[in-house]
Amino acid sequence: MLQVSDIKINYLKEPAGITNSPQFSWILESNQRNVKQAAYRLQISTEETFHTIVYDSQKVTHEESAHVFAKGFLPKSASKYFVRVKTWDNHEEESPYSKTSFFLSGLMEDGDWQASFISAESKEDADSSKGTYLRKEVILNKKIKSAYAYTTALGLYHFYINGQKVGTDQMAPGWTSYHNRLLYQTHDITSLLKDGDNALGAHIGAGWYKGKMGFTHTRNIYGNQTGFLCQIHIQYEDGSNELIMSDDSWKGCDSPVLFSEIYDGEIYDANWEQEGWNLPRFNDGHWQSPEILTIDNSILTAQAGCKVREIETLPAKEIFKTPKGDTIIDFGQNLTGWIRFKVNAKAGEKVILNCFEVLDKDGNAYFENLRSAKETLEYTCKGNGEATYQPYFSFQGFRYVKIAAYPGTLSRDNFSALVVHSDMEETGTFHCSNPDLNQLQHNITWGLKGNFLDIPTDCPQRDERLGWTGDAQIFCRTASYIMDTYTFFSKWLEDLAADQTPEGGVPHVIPDILSGRSQDDGLISQGTDSAAAWSDAAIINPWTLYLVYGDKEIIRRQYGSMKAWIDFMTHHATDGIWSYRLQFGDWVALDAEEGSYFGATPNELICTAYYAYSSGLFAKMAQTIGNDEDFQTYRQLHEDIVSVFQNRYFTEEGDMSIQTQTAHIVALYFNLVPEQYKEKTALGLVKLLDKENGHLVTGFVGTPYFCHALSRNGHTKEAYELLLKDDFPSWLYQIRKGATTIWEHWDGIKEDGSMWSADMNSFNHYAYGAVGDWLYRVIAGIEADENEPGYKHFTISPQIGGNLTYAKGTFKSVYGEIMTYWQRIENTIQLDFTIPVNTTATILLSDADDVILNDGIAFTKGSFGYEGVTGSGNYTVTYTIA
Ligand code: BGC
Repeated sequence: MLQVSDIKINYLKEPAGITNSPQFSWILESNQRNVKQAAYRLQISTEETFHTIVYDSQKVTHEESAHVFAKGFLPKSASKYFVRVKTWDNHEEESPYSKTSFFLSGLMEDGDWQASFISAESKEDADSSKGTYLRKEVILNKKIKSAYAYTTALGLYHFYINGQKVGTDQMAPGWTSYHNRLLYQTHDITSLLKDGDNALGAHIGAGWYKGKMGFTHTRNIYGNQTGFLCQIHIQYEDGSNELIMSDDSWKGCDSPVLFSEIYDGEIYDANWEQEGWNLPRFNDGHWQSPEILTIDNSILTAQAGCKVREIETLPAKEIFKTPKGDTIIDFGQNLTGWIRFKVNAKAGEKVILNCFEVLDKDGNAYFENLRSAKETLEYTCKGNGEATYQPYFSFQGFRYVKIAAYPGTLSRDNFSALVVHSDMEETGTFHCSNPDLNQLQHNITWGLKGNFLDIPTDCPQRDERLGWTGDAQIFCRTASYIMDTYTFFSKWLEDLAADQTPEGGVPHVIPDILSGRSQDDGLISQGTDSAAAWSDAAIINPWTLYLVYGDKEIIRRQYGSMKAWIDFMTHHATDGIWSYRLQFGDWVALDAEEGSYFGATPNELICTAYYAYSSGLFAKMAQTIGNDEDFQTYRQLHEDIVSVFQNRYFTEEGDMSIQTQTAHIVALYFNLVPEQYKEKTALGLVKLLDKENGHLVTGFVGTPYFCHALSRNGHTKEAYELLLKDDFPSWLYQIRKGATTIWEHWDGIKEDGSMWSADMNSFNHYAYGAVGDWLYRVIAGIEADENEPGYKHFTISPQIGGNLTYAKGTFKSVYGEIMTYWQRIENTIQLDFTIPVNTTATILLSDADDVILNDGIAFTKGSFGYEGVTGSGNYTVTYTIA
């Protein structure tokens, strides 16, 4: 039976805040094999009953079940639309209509925004990071048909109607290039409003907008005053409309949040609470009129999804005393979010909690790696019974909490950790017979959870937490196996484009808060933009989204940004080799000189390798969207850079002139090696590995591709050996040391328990987790095909090794879930796999001697093993390997 499920609108389920003609996708399910969509019908209505249809595609003969546009349809402002789809397949089956999905539009027309930004702060509050309240009562006395709220803040906010929080958003409106783009949130509030008196309340904090940010410790980066914007569109049953908005009729005052900032935590005094402040009939006579702020409304952009939320709750695992006598709570997992606690104490008594990541070698709390970040919560009780508290405008990176003060008896039940990150659908799983690799997969996933908090951050704990482009570039592919990152990265890429320099340079961090501040810090005094591998996020991240989701829109949207970045490199290149101001090179590689962060591979080699790789990807993307002229130009540029690279970095004997692991890795992975020297280069890499006793000495640039460079060039055995090493330096070394996330440094905690330099020692840094894509692509063997991206066609090609007896990977593509599961008994492999409806796959049985059970697939023998192509369904194939 054919069925349609999982309708998505702009890659989101039931989004609120659509302001364009959206893309639709759906998943087909069938109990037959080799099923493809033959035709579809998509309908959009303003009613759930589909009485009035505003768009009907009729029966369209087309195979595409993702990236489908409703041609000519553009939603109207502040409206709700219902969507349903039916399909026909190549076996002449017709599905029923799908379950109805829906979306809410944002504010789209000129003049839609009539509300004003209001502030309960004054200019004198520029140095304050306090919380403020804003409120307004409204009387509604007609029957409401629908009501939608459009809200945002300069700072961070929580919005309440009649005492109830609107939506589950946290850290809203997130962090963007605020001068250019400020996201507003859309909520259906029909059920929150009632007949008669209603109270609207907003609680505002400093956040990224106004608080102290960056290692330069700069405050008020975007403005001196927090602000709030609210516009509510009500439609009554009688057909009339009403608009309620933030203006000078609201009232404001200080909240019990005395201080709150991203790095330092929050100070809250419950004695300042005003009961009922966000309920009707509260006496706000002593509150002040707000200040109206002049902000250009054209920066307002709808946020349709991927909001930051409290995603999981972890209980306190253990309470213990350290040798120094501190009382510590252990949550058992390094994480990002906050603590929620209960307390019942007298007025004036305090709870003080200091968050941190690891214990030092003596088992005491270790705070040094937080640098200046305080990560402290301080709560003053007001008496009269039990209170529950969690911070409003700050988040912490921690596994442990030092209880600096807590009145009453400590009990684990009074504390829990809320895990907070951007809300993305989990798309991938990996599991195998080696428990250490499973822990590595766990740590990689928690690195993602810990650092995808509206922007991709380097780390969540110290006074940094910035959108370092290199880290986001390196980890993008792995992240996109584990979770649906489409909305997350496409939002961040818009900020990258917005913050590019006029010349096309890409800032080191996005949102860019470093430009113009180079005098404040030694390292960035050399430059705040345009470093190889970092700025290449401008190309590699859109390419990855195209590859993983098959989405051409991302190419169209980022095209100008991408082209500007390639042209920037060309502008700064001399004879095809380029370098520019501050380069990070193979950042924190172990072949660095003592005490240096910069690895041994020369900057120029890394710059030119990325220049070649990025220009090649850009040429392919130009071709994809039909820009033939650019395709020809940039393909030629790519070829020219490749030959410059080859002439410069290969000797006449075919050796690399730079004898570092990373030089060999990028040359191999980016396809920069002359064909006749490939084997030699791969052997060269193996030799360099042997020299280190099988260990890597690579940093941010070499590490992500190390295993691929080996396994793609006939050295899968060595790739497994490298992955499975568990003495220093290796991925599994940290697991032996009890890591629950990925470390920034291979020797974050040394063999003797001492720490790497505290100035750069994060224990939740996803960059080295970029090895994760090797688990999915090579061990589980789920590999995309750039000729039919989005896994419309893909390869199932597990490479068996590392003494694993089984491995299982799943990945939910835009067409449905792909699964591979192999089990090994001696030399016999049983491979189970699932190919989603409307896709096909090539099955490559690497090193297969003989296919014992082909399950209907016609396999042919080649030099690498056996190969077959098949359509959707569940299969089991058995084969033997040499
Ligand atoms: C960050 C890194 C980042 C680097 C750039 C560090 O402070 O934590 O992850 O990419 O700076 O050099």
